[in-house]
Amino acid sequence: MYQIKTIGVLTSGGDAPGMNAAVRAVTRAAIVNGMRVKAIYRGYKGLIDGEVEEFTTQDVSGIIQRGGTILKSARCEEFKTEEGRKKAYDTMQREQIDALIVIGGDGTFTGARLLAQEYNVTVIGVPATIDNDLWGTDSTIGYDTALNTIMDCVDKLRDTGTSHERVFVVEVMGRDAGFLTLNAAIASGAEAAMIPERKTVEEQIEEAIGQGRRKHKNSAILLVQEHSIEGGAQAVANIIEKSHPEYGTRVTILGHLQRGGTPTASDRILASRLGCHAVLALLDEQRSIMIGMQNGNIAYVPLTQSIKQKKDIGTDRWNALHMLSI
Ligand code: F6P
Repeated sequence: MYQIKTIGVLTSGGDAPGMNAAVRAVTRAAIVNGMRVKAIYRGYKGLIDGEVEEFTTQDVSGIIQRGGTILKSARCEEFKTEEGRKKAYDTMQREQIDALIVIGGDGTFTGARLLAQEYNVTVIGVPATIDNDLWGTDSTIGYDTALNTIMDCVDKLRDTGTSHERVFVVEVMGRDAGFLTLNAAIASGAEAAMIPERKTVEEQIEEAIGQGRRKHKNSAILLVQEHSIEGGAQAVANIIEKSHPEYGTRVTILGHLQRGGTPTASDRILASRLGCHAVLALLDEQRSIMIGMQNGNIAYVPLTQSIKQKKDIGTDRWNALHMLSI
């Protein structure tokens, strides 16, 4: 196989806490193993526009604890076109980048896969998204930090919710997946988690605050995944206000604060391990794979599978929440 001398690294899609730790790991592991590293700014947009800079080990000093991404990120429509990917490939040729390590989520991997197919480029994916929606890895970089952020917010809302005996409807991110919402609900002792993977929202509302289940509680916190119902948390609040006008209902949309903040130890360690292994996978002549973490062990997962297979949320967490939220 063609020897890889220079690696390009980029972060793309929604930023996630721990992306910087992954950039640091890729950079240092590559240099330690005798490769050069070219950092690409603003994700695929920067690859198209040639925003490339060679990194030394010092360029990634002092970033392991920082949220966001020093490489910046973008959602790039142009890269979805053949012309866009051609320009990206031209930049790789010009900069003599032999392999790309892309740090991001589903959209990032979809783009990487197309580039790999069309130009026979070597790409490795490092899963980073707060949504935790990639198949083949137990956790994605940023997920644990976002989960903790949501839990902290809900703890604060609980104080005012119980004081005023109100129902708080809290909107949580997650794109098509309910991992953040369901696990944050368990961790914060919320009364319900409305997620796209489960029954209709109306049924869930009735279960959570309807007759029978509300015997001992005068307040409630319902977490609503942003896409579990059209209109999100506000739509749920409207339903509750109609069916249970006796409750004072308030809506909180957590929004992009869920993507910020200093990464947890878990995310830093995950990012460091995945980043190192992305480089080792290249030395191992791997291509078009995602580096995943399965039961604490590194796993090589075909990019196609990581994108196409739907990660199952299972039933035990759902059942636990229901048992515990009475
Ligand atoms: O994929 C991460 C994520 O934060 C999703 O949870 C959310 O639906 C989306 O990105 C928001 O995207 P944007 O920052 O482009 O509004």
